Amino acid sequence: MTSLFVRACERGEVERTPVWFMRQAGRYQPEYRRVRERLRLLDICERPDVCTEVTLLPVRQLQVDAAILFSDITVPLRAVGIGLDIVENVGPVVAEPLRSASDLERLRTLVPEEDEPYVAAAVRQIVAELGDVPLIGFAGGPFTLASYLVEGGPSRSYRRLKGLMWQDPQLFRALMERLADMTLRHLVAQAEAGAAALQIFDSWIGCLSPADYRRHVLPVMQGLFRRLEALHVPRIYFGVETAGLLEAMAESGADVIGVDWRVEIRTAADRIGPELAIQGNLDPALLLAPEDEIAQAAKAIVGAMGGRRGHIFNLGHGVLPETPPDALRRLVEIVRQESLHA
Ligand code: CP3
Repeated sequence: MTSLFVRACERGEVERTPVWFMRQAGRYQPEYRRVRERLRLLDICERPDVCTEVTLLPVRQLQVDAAILFSDITVPLRAVGIGLDIVENVGPVVAEPLRSASDLERLRTLVPEEDEPYVAAAVRQIVAELGDVPLIGFAGGPFTLASYLVEGGPSRSYRRLKGLMWQDPQLFRALMERLADMTLRHLVAQAEAGAAALQIFDSWIGCLSPADYRRHVLPVMQGLFRRLEALHVPRIYFGVETAGLLEAMAESGADVIGVDWRVEIRTAADRIGPELAIQGNLDPALLLAPEDEIAQAAKAIVGAMGGRRGHIFNLGHGVLPETPPDALRRLVEIVRQESLHA
């Protein structure tokens, strides 16, 4: 029997709205913090037994309808030898940013079986322990990965990345294609190991104008989603602040579009059209608000999507570290009750 989550991604019949949370395993959990006292983030990703333990934590604690592999979008970059660190409360920092044609050579072809065998090993172990709960595999979108590689770390303006895009569009495209190939190989390895769905986190595409997104990013994404089609698993495409890009994202070839809270979910759903499913979109900061505020906002989202096939409830971005675990537990309950189709 196909899982509730996958059926919703495929816009099939569901008895209620499935729910999971981006960053559902992480610092808001005391159990996770304890693991982090002895291991660095990227060490957890490289150890299938610990990775499995951390991935399963929220499934057991919150009763969510899907697990997401505990990993990071930077894992395949490190696997091909890019010097990169994740700095606490900052994000990924790249020792030697990529800025010229010769720098591109440092992004060699990813061979998952050799460069990151722990990824497929973790997926296999998690899938075996999950039983009926589906596992989501994921990767970073080429643009979002490029942002760290070119800027050297997190950025507000993305001026170096955009500078490269406009000054040397061919080099920018070559970089994007290399990253798309890496993302493809990383996702294929996860699907072949048993992942039931794949999400591409293209978190930072919202910094682009619709015209630049269409010219410099969309064609690469279309090629990537086309090549993922043969895997026959739902493909989710997520970005932050994408209200200006929804029609273009809907042309990417993804099956599900993930949206943040800055756009009304019903509006977003209408704009991507009836052929695609939608995922979102509660403001993660709301989980720090009073209980009835959370309940009201969650009910509004479920209500707005009532009667439309293909909605997966999620936050508009990752769970914040300050989130009380009980607030997430209650949110799962509310979504379940509100969306029950009698
Ligand atoms: O959703 C999940 O439960 C799976 C885990 C997951 C992580 N990273 C683990 C992680 C996922 C899906 C990611 C994706 C990721 N990583 C993205 C795309 C999603 C998004 O948030 O937009 C991005 C941009 C990254 C890069 C990255 N890694 C950032 C910006 C940070 C935060 C730095 C900080 O300290 O605040 C990380 C670190 C990171 N990756 C943490 C986790 C749980 C938190 C820090 C830690 O535990 O050390």
